[in-house]
Amino acid sequence: MNPIRVMTVFGTRPEAIKLAPVIQQLEKNPHFKSIVVVTAQHREMLDQVLDLFKIKPDRDLNLMRDNQSLASLTASIFTHLDPVLEEFDPDWLLIQGDTTTVMAAALTAYYRHIKVGHVEAGLRTWDKWQPFPEEINRRVAGVIADLHFAPTQWARGNLLREGIDDHIIKVTGNTIIDALSQITTLPMPKEIEVLLQEKNILSKEKRMIFVTAHRRENFGDPIKSICEALKSLAEKYADSVEIFYPVHLNPNIFNPVHALLESIPNITLLPPLEYISLVHMLKHAHMILTDSGGIQEEATGLGIPCLVLRDVTERPEGIDAGVLKLVGTDAGKIVSETALVLNDASVYQTMSNAANPYGDGKAAIEIVNTLLKE
Ligand code: UD1
Ligand code: UDP
Repeated sequence: MNPIRVMTVFGTRPEAIKLAPVIQQLEKNPHFKSIVVVTAQHREMLDQVLDLFKIKPDRDLNLMRDNQSLASLTASIFTHLDPVLEEFDPDWLLIQGDTTTVMAAALTAYYRHIKVGHVEAGLRTWDKWQPFPEEINRRVAGVIADLHFAPTQWARGNLLREGIDDHIIKVTGNTIIDALSQITTLPMPKEIEVLLQEKNILSKEKRMIFVTAHRRENFGDPIKSICEALKSLAEKYADSVEIFYPVHLNPNIFNPVHALLESIPNITLLPPLEYISLVHMLKHAHMILTDSGGIQEEATGLGIPCLVLRDVTERPEGIDAGVLKLVGTDAGKIVSETALVLNDASVYQTMSNAANPYGDGKAAIEIVNTLLKE
């Protein structure tokens, strides 16, 4: 029997982290021919993950441009991915999540009558502007997909309500747990150990607040407001807290964050961290402030109190578990909610209950086994 030809297409850091375990499973299974194509919607931040998981793409479309627009990126994915689909003619196209790469790759495959498997299917806020443009990207992928790999029963329920047939939905858990459990076993990189020692985190003299933010709906005033809150918190807790913030390379985030926070003694701005460094930082974090999707899942899995810098989330599992709390981007609210977690031991205790709604780290095996049965 000929092997099943599965082309995995991705472009950004989170897609790479969450697809790496699936690619590993496909590559070691003789029933499959794995083809890896990166749009490189991200460059440096994608390459960090490719290096860590030792993934060598069969094709690298190298599409990232500085401060790219959604329309120009979408157009170049259509133009450059289509000939690659023609060349390899895969049986399945596998995509993950809700980026521009996901939406454009799903449509390009549909135009060629190629079957689409969507990993992390069924996440919804039902607000087309939040997160923007991800809510629409994942809905587009959802109407095209021939197989939906839902991370949780909640996500499956969303797909069923949209009229998707249950027999093409498989609840697998989230592949982030597969990636996290693989990388967490690796030793802490020396430079992270040195940093955490220097900043008195390892000695527990100071508590770490770990921050990330990059969402498009937070460009402009909201990111300035987040920075204002971080500055106030740094001043208020100058003796007891260190804030660490690996800054996303998007210039709409990078420029204002560096301009507003660069010279504050207990705020450390870092370049995007390799995933292994990120995991070790999270393990030592007292609490997290983020608008990231993936970090909400990691905080939930690790039981690290996490304030979500958004008005809505497509990851209610962490809210239900008590680990996540939506606080939005108002500076005063961020400061008061952070102070509550820092000052009130019982609030901290209630929020630090780890929950495991995202499976047992075998999502990638489930996905590959499901493809095998199709
Ligand atoms: C993208 C995704 C978002 C995801 C995020 C993960 C879309 C529309 N957005 O947002 O869903 O949450 O990735 O991080 O798909 N840049 C670099 N080097 C890099 C990466 C980005 O310089 O390695 C800069 C470039 O100037 C680039 C800009 O960031 O043009 C924006 O990148 P883009 O992928 O369009 O959007 P993100 O904000 O990264
Ligand atoms: N991440 C990382 N280094 C960083 C920041 C984040 O490796 O400096 C990881 C993070 O742990 C998570 C993923 O990148 O697994 C999330 O990516 P991001 O926040 O960029 O995108 P989102 O999940 O919001 O789409």
